Amino acid sequence: MLEIQEVTKKYGKKYALQGVNLQLTEGVYGLLGPNGAGKSTLMNIITGNLQPDDGRVLWNGTPLKSLGVDYRRMLGYAPQQQGLYDGFTGRRFLSYLGTLKEIPKKALAAEIETVAAYVNLTEKIDSLIGTYSGGMKQRLLIAQAMMGNPALLILDEPTAGLDPKERVRIREKIRELSKGKIILIATHVVSDVQSIAREIIFLKSGEIADIDSVEALKSRYGAAHLEEVYMEIFGEEAVCHDETDSL
Ligand SMILES: Nc1ncnc2c1ncn2[C@@H]1O[C@H](COP(=O)(O)OP(=O)(O)O)[C@@H](O)[C@H]1O
Ligand SMILES: [Mg+2]
Repeated sequence: MLEIQEVTKKYGKKYALQGVNLQLTEGVYGLLGPNGAGKSTLMNIITGNLQPDDGRVLWNGTPLKSLGVDYRRMLGYAPQQQGLYDGFTGRRFLSYLGTLKEIPKKALAAEIETVAAYVNLTEKIDSLIGTYSGGMKQRLLIAQAMMGNPALLILDEPTAGLDPKERVRIREKIRELSKGKIILIATHVVSDVQSIAREIIFLKSGEIADIDSVEALKSRYGAAHLEEVYMEIFGEEAVCHDETDSL
């Protein structure tokens, strides 16, 4: 179980997160909110890349700080920023990150094939990343996060820049992999998560505006679609229906 307790983060005088509390158990969670809501900040804190000003993150009751490398070993993270090595092939990139994750050498080649197939990159895995499209780079980033079958998978805007077909493919793969894991997906696109998430977490200006199952949210807000709930919470202008919206 992942517990986030009273997490607060300020940049200067501005709160990026304020008193965030969450308890995540097995399943897919959708972290929904417009740009600037604090999604990436929260994910950076959960992954241990950023220290909160206040509060703590616990994995099965133990603070992250005490877990160290054991936590990193069971964590998969696809950050929002693409920092890929253009001079590497996809295979070399995955091999490099797999080694950092301490995936046993014997298992690494097969693991690379598996995750490349997950994101439909098998054909391009020996090409240089510099020749990849934006969508292909995004899929490689998701593949590296999935390597080693992590118990906690954190995906920050994973479908940004993907065409609708690949969006659906990734979504279905996430659904398939979700058993026995915690998967947290940040997005501002309702359709990315509404059919796969056990709970939707609405993050608004650094605070949790609401959290529940899609069905419970729809009934509480008297809404036929989750988009209406999103609109109710964030306002009309924040709604993002477009499958091909760019980021
Ligand atoms: N490194 C930083 N320095 C200053 N402000 C930041 C930094 N990172 C994020 N912020 C601010 O914190 C808020 C939340 O940002 P972020 O977590 O990136 O939101 P989201 O991922 O939901 O778009 C925004 O107001 C953003 O401008
Ligand atoms: Mg973000």
